[in-house]
Amino acid sequence: MVYAAVLATVALFASSTLARPSYLPRDSSFLQLNGEEAIALNAQFKTLTATSSCTDGTSACVNGEFAQCVSGNFVLTSCGSGLTCAALPLVNSAGTSITCATQQDVDERIAASGATSASDSSSSAVASASSAVASASSTKAATCTVTVPAAKATASSATASAASSTASAVSTSTNTSDAQSSLTLLSSLVNTGFQQVGTEEFSPEAGEIASATSANNFINFCATVNLPLTNGTQVQGGSCNAAPMGVIASTNNMPSAKFVHPPNLGTVPANTTFSVVLAVERLQTGHFVNPDTNFFAAPQTVNATTGDILGHSHVVIERLAALNQTTPTNPGTFAFFKGLNDVAVNGTLTAEVTNGLPSGVYRMASINAAANHQPVLVAVAQHGTLDDMLHRRMNGLGA
Ligand SMILES: *[C@@H]1O[C@H](CO)[C@@H](O)[C@H](O)[C@H]1NC(C)=O
Ligand SMILES: *[C@@H]1O[C@H](CO)[C@@H](O)[C@H](O)[C@H]1NC(C)=O
Ligand SMILES: *[C@@H]1O[C@H](CO)[C@@H](O)[C@H](O)[C@H]1NC(C)=O
Ligand SMILES: *[C@@H]1O[C@H](CO)[C@@H](O)[C@H](O)[C@H]1NC(C)=O
Ligand SMILES: *[C@@H]1O[C@H](CO)[C@@H](O)[C@H](O)[C@H]1NC(C)=O
Ligand SMILES: *[C@@H]1O[C@H](CO)[C@@H](O)[C@H](O)[C@H]1NC(C)=O
Repeated sequence: MVYAAVLATVALFASSTLARPSYLPRDSSFLQLNGEEAIALNAQFKTLTATSSCTDGTSACVNGEFAQCVSGNFVLTSCGSGLTCAALPLVNSAGTSITCATQQDVDERIAASGATSASDSSSSAVASASSAVASASSTKAATCTVTVPAAKATASSATASAASSTASAVSTSTNTSDAQSSLTLLSSLVNTGFQQVGTEEFSPEAGEIASATSANNFINFCATVNLPLTNGTQVQGGSCNAAPMGVIASTNNMPSAKFVHPPNLGTVPANTTFSVVLAVERLQTGHFVNPDTNFFAAPQTVNATTGDILGHSHVVIERLAALNQTTPTNPGTFAFFKGLNDVAVNGTLTAEVTNGLPSGVYRMASINAAANHQPVLVAVAQHGTLDDMLHRRMNGLGA
């Protein structure tokens, strides 16, 4: 089986968007036509094998795996457990996309298009598009369709320039014995979820933009920006960090904190030593690496038994013009800062503010961090704040 070939920037990434040829109708009935084209493509994918020849830059599905054509051969990427590669109908515009999804999702999305079979028009579209480029091959050239529509092409090329990888750059290995010193990405770690822009298959919320994507876990992302590498020092002008985010804490392990002392809206004597007491939960405290040599230099990790993030906390106190100040503060200026590096005693961390602070109004906040000082990362976007913040006064009159 031979099909037409598409080469567009989007084809660098494992979720390829395929538009219908411009000679086909582009009216409001496109959804069903998209579904019929998806059915036709999926039928044709079933005829492909890993050794089918192909046209560079094109994408397809082979035996349920995502296939990208590099140097005339398919490079297969597993979709991961429970997922299969398939062509799906776009819902917002004419065309299809090739992506990884559950078989149930594939079936439902094709059914939702109203399509029940590959229509004559989509079959002939594929057939005629094929013959347009079919000089490339005889029986087994394999690739998929045509052009990317203008709007998508813009998003895709933005994506392309944001990510450094191309399919041909991905080098993977299955050798796990030297994985932590190897310069090669393990094939089991290729993250197909990072290969979708996020706006093609789903109706995006207003203002939602296409994500940068990568076929190689962004391993060479920092080559796309002109910045020094994050090298363990606190690079003042900004830097690019190649360390993975690491282990993300589960929803049962989201850290939380509350100041015990001084009390919120309380008053502390000016210029007099006082203690800050912070109660923390679900943070395995006492894990604190050298901030001058190992800042942001390793992934977040958790306690293998409890799942709590291995980390520490900080307290920062900023002076405000007034308790009802509405202008944002300048994070570069603060009255007091201290890492709370010890293991919590009885669930609390403490710091001494030696000689106190001059009279005024202040905001005090915790900063819960993983061992390498990065802010704690948890499993879900919507959660209560992982830190505490309160306001208090210093005056010369005593509390
Ligand atoms: C896997 O890596 C180890 C350590 O570098 C090496 O000794 C071994 O030969 C490799 N195995 C294969 C199959 O490449
Ligand atoms: C870390 O990077 C900064 C910025 O490029 C550089 O000034 C510094 O010398 C580097 N330090 C080490 C230890 O690599
Ligand atoms: C993990 O948690 C267990 C149980 O609280 C504790 O005994 C152990 O010391 C912790 N491990 C680390 C590395 O903090
Ligand atoms: C803050 O409070 C002062 C005194 O009550 C008042 O004059 C001022 O308008 C308030 N500012 C804001 C931004 O609410
Ligand atoms: C731990 O906290 C409890 C309750 O807040 C308190 O009664 C107890 O004295 C504290 N123990 C230590 C060692 O601080
Ligand atoms: C506290 O110390 C500051 C600076 O050392 C000083 O200006 C101020 O007068 C002192 N007293 C009070 C009540 O702030």
